[in-house]
Amino acid sequence: MKQSIYLDNAATTRIDGRVIEAMFPFLNDYYGNASSLHQIGTTVKDQIVKSRNQIAQFLKCESDEIIFTASGTEANNFAIKGVAFANRSKGNHIIVSSVEHDCVLNTCKWLETQGFFVTYLPVDNQGFIDLEFLKRCINPKTILVSIMHVNNEIGTIQPISEIAKICKEKNIYFHSDACQSFGKITVDIQNIDLLTINSHKIYGPKGVGALVVKKNTNIAPLLHGGGQEFGLRSSTENIAGIVGFAKAVQLCFSEMEGEFDRVSSLQKS
Ligand SMILES: Cc1ncc(COP(=O)(O)O)c(C=O)c1O
Repeated sequence: MKQSIYLDNAATTRIDGRVIEAMFPFLNDYYGNASSLHQIGTTVKDQIVKSRNQIAQFLKCESDEIIFTASGTEANNFAIKGVAFANRSKGNHIIVSSVEHDCVLNTCKWLETQGFFVTYLPVDNQGFIDLEFLKRCINPKTILVSIMHVNNEIGTIQPISEIAKICKEKNIYFHSDACQSFGKITVDIQNIDLLTINSHKIYGPKGVGALVVKKNTNIAPLLHGGGQEFGLRSSTENIAGIVGFAKAVQLCFSEMEGEFDRVSSLQKS
């Protein structure tokens, strides 16, 4: 058989064997519902707490600021629609870059049909937005700015700390989609109100992601039901996915430096 070389890790990665090993007991033995009061249920619940703590530790945020979702797409929808609807009385203007992932752009296009106005910032020939232009686009009706950290097609790293400061000064929420950066480079979430991450870009399972929602962020849930995830995302928790995500995060952070050097040397060779 002809051997193929997979060069599409920005689209998705092969799950790490150590992640599969960590997930297996939660598919086979501890398959219970975290809301159940029996022993399997409480084991699952404890493991969700542990996984949440692990991810929070790497992101340097509080555990209860991590809301597990089923994907980066869902987390981006939740951030943008959730802030838009919860803050509608304050304003109806949102700013994003024109090179966001489709799940951000199409969410914004849909919000335009619901009475919101969206500014799509242009980028230069390297994919950067102009911070001065961003400042000029902010108006009294602006409630949210959403700019991705690393671009999924050309790899541009936007200065999200500077953007976060601009938004903080103006008292506007700032969301960043970090699906392409989390676990690969440092993501400083100081001053960032909402951050999207996912698992399948970092050798974890598909079907799990998270939105970091900082304290005092006014956001409406997309999914209503049993009140899981602090009432912000109802659904029976994907325990194996969450455990796998936390394991992938732990591995990425312990191997990040060496991996960065390894990939950089491949790029140069
Ligand atoms: C920057 C970026 N945002 C969001 C997503 C969507 O994530 P998911 O595949 O978990 O829905 C992707 C994945 O393609 C991405 O690269």
